[in-house]
Amino acid sequence: MANLFFVPQNIITGENALQMSLEHLKDFGKKALIVTDNMMIKLGNVKKLTDALDSISVLYTIYPGINSEPNHTMIDEGVEVYKKEGCDFLIGIGGGSPLDSMKAIGAVVANGGSITEYMGKKIDNDLPPTCAIPTTAGTGSEATKVSIINNTITNVKMLLNDPKLMARIAVIDPVFTMTAPPEVTAATGVDALTHAIEAYTSRKAFSMSDIFAKSAIKRIFENLYEVYTNGSNFDARKEMANAALEGGIAFSNASVTIVHGMSRPIGALFHVPHGLSNAMLLNVCLEFLKPGAVDRLNELAMIIGVHNQGMTTEEGADAFVKATTDLLKKLNIKTPQEFGIDKDEFFKQIPKMAEDALISGSPQNTRRIPSKDEIMTLYKKLWE
Ligand SMILES: NC(=O)c1ccc[n+]([C@@H]2O[C@H](COP(=O)([O-])OP(=O)(O)OC[C@H]3O[C@@H](n4cnc5c(N)ncnc54)[C@H](O)[C@@H]3O)[C@@H](O)[C@H]2O)c1
Ligand SMILES: [Fe+2]
Repeated sequence: MANLFFVPQNIITGENALQMSLEHLKDFGKKALIVTDNMMIKLGNVKKLTDALDSISVLYTIYPGINSEPNHTMIDEGVEVYKKEGCDFLIGIGGGSPLDSMKAIGAVVANGGSITEYMGKKIDNDLPPTCAIPTTAGTGSEATKVSIINNTITNVKMLLNDPKLMARIAVIDPVFTMTAPPEVTAATGVDALTHAIEAYTSRKAFSMSDIFAKSAIKRIFENLYEVYTNGSNFDARKEMANAALEGGIAFSNASVTIVHGMSRPIGALFHVPHGLSNAMLLNVCLEFLKPGAVDRLNELAMIIGVHNQGMTTEEGADAFVKATTDLLKKLNIKTPQEFGIDKDEFFKQIPKMAEDALISGSPQNTRRIPSKDEIMTLYKKLWE
């Protein structure tokens, strides 16, 4: 079977990546809409970008209206600003939320309508040129054909997946991730890990996606705990930025599976940050999918160095799951209860969450496909 592999047209990684990107950005258009959040302004990241744009005489308007977990009204507003200000290309700077929003704004600018109509639809017209500059080492959105926007009318985190959403250029300078606080570092890092594990154990995995998934997993096991405890370690931050990029490339091509499928409904209904809701689920989902992916999990145990000589394939798979559980513990991942979710309300929503998880299509990519009942049981397990 043949497979098509998607990546951005250009990827620039490493120190001073922003400077190097200017050569490309100067040909993108006359005026950029910079899609971002207020934190990026406060941290001075937007200033770094606007100084760089000034140096090549490219105009810009800043739209800082994205806060964590973007929703459809933020996209509507961004589209208005883009049109009113006469912009002709887009730059997203921030975590996955501004990057996804940039893609969604671009899609609506080029195709009309409202973003709420885009779930599961093919995108016809090309977006204006897009540039993605991540500041978290997590989503990999800089290199995925995915955008996730919360529809607050239906309370569904819409998964938009179309090659046209891929940024034209991804600019990954690890310096931007240095300021991420430990909790954000941990949650976004586990998001990247989840992308890579799910891509590697997806039914849609293939040789190219495997290369990126395995590399990401190795880097994350070697560096995530270090950046969590010692955020000023630049080399470790660099490794994590590369791992997030690789994880994004891996899952954008091979798809995510059960964890992301179950995670989006928790995010939509209880406003749990995306990385954290994945982290809450990773453990129970790995135990569930293990029987369908013993070989693959065993290989991952070898890659991260927890496969001891003489172990059976089954034992190797167990060793990988245990290593993941141990890492999650060290990162002090909150339980739903610790996050402040009301248990009764959570249980009341389980049927809707299971339904929405299946509608997204992600759980069906798992090597052990869950039924609705099994998904409901897994949600309940988060409280045990
Ligand atoms: N498009 C994709 O392929 C994809 C994949 C996974 C997740 N997502 C989506 O991405 C969103 C989550 O993105 P995220 O996890 O990167 O978080 P985020 O963009 O929501 O940012 C989380 C918080 O961290 C802050 N922050 C970001 N970078 C920082 C830095 N360098 N220093 C200090 N603070 C910083 C932000 O201001 C925000 O308050 C969710 O909506 C999720 O569904 C998209
Ligand atoms: Fe994710």
